[in-house]
Amino acid sequence: MRVLVTGGLGFIGSETVCALYEAGHEAVIVDDLVNSKIAVLDRLETIIGKRPACYIVDCCDLKAFREVFQKEKVDAVIHFAGLKAVGESVEKPIEYYANNLTSATNLLLLMKEFGVHNIVFSSSATVYGIPQRVPLKEDDPVMSATNPYGETKVMIERIIEDACAADKSLNAALLRYFNPIGGHASGLLGEDPNGIPNNLMPYITQVAIGKRPYLNIYGNDYPTVDGTGVRDYIHVVDLAEGHVATLAKLAQNPGLCIYNLGTGKGSSVLEMVHAFEEVNGVKIPYKFQPRRAGDVTENFANCDKAEKELGWKAKRDIKDACRDAYYFQQKNPNGIE
Ligand code: UFG
Repeated sequence: MRVLVTGGLGFIGSETVCALYEAGHEAVIVDDLVNSKIAVLDRLETIIGKRPACYIVDCCDLKAFREVFQKEKVDAVIHFAGLKAVGESVEKPIEYYANNLTSATNLLLLMKEFGVHNIVFSSSATVYGIPQRVPLKEDDPVMSATNPYGETKVMIERIIEDACAADKSLNAALLRYFNPIGGHASGLLGEDPNGIPNNLMPYITQVAIGKRPYLNIYGNDYPTVDGTGVRDYIHVVDLAEGHVATLAKLAQNPGLCIYNLGTGKGSSVLEMVHAFEEVNGVKIPYKFQPRRAGDVTENFANCDKAEKELGWKAKRDIKDACRDAYYFQQKNPNGIE
């Protein structure tokens, strides 16, 4: 299959491009470099052995985006592109709604115009809002998200559902990711956030290489195993492979389908710190801080549906992810340059 990958130079997108080639597919990347570096393309070429087609285009620019569809015939689309920082989305809600919704609707319009019938959308466990119960299942209610970023995921899911209802030839998978971490085994691809990391693993790896003095752990009074928040951390390579499995499913014309992509296992912040220390032989100093606004206590997935219907299951554990994340950070102390 020839697959258009928006956001294909990003953390999850680039790993998915690798997984596509590994499975014998081909990728056409569209990325505006807002949250990624062009050097990722060279690294993809090193890993894959050939250079994927890549367009530096903002999906919100309908004219430029249409030119990509005019030049490249594709069988499916994976839509990763989007703004994704929870805190920033609270400060800049209009920018988040404008960017994420416009790029998604532009994509759907162009798919219709050019007769592309298969889309995989990069959604998030954030659509479940404050979980009523864990593990979360796909038929648990979609709630109002706790921030504008999450709300764009809820809205785009809804737009895609309506598009599927109106067009029986459209196949769409909404993939609800839990917490992707880790990196490519080569150390060439990994999480490379701009500025101070918002997420746990890149913060830990920056402490590990001495770039930051200690980790702030937000909250030690949650009703969990050790008082710290619990999440379902999934290795990004497993997540990438989940997208390849989903494309095979879409080829069977299922219409709309929804899958949780996680491991089914929750780990606390302290368990992550200890796993990281153990597998990498480094000490991660930390300080407890008050809870972070908007954080939930516990969040992990039931992934039975993906296993049953996609034949996909996470194969790597948090230790694999801690090792690969650290290796990437060691090889790229200043990020991808
Ligand atoms: N945490 C810390 N210190 C940090 C960063 C995080 O203690 O410096 C804790 C958080 O409080 C939380 C856990 O580590 O308990 C994970 O936090 P992340 O920021 O890594 O991830 P979140 O679960 O908050 O957010 C992730 C994605 C979002 C998505 C959300 C819900 O980053 O995009 O899951 O699915 F919306």
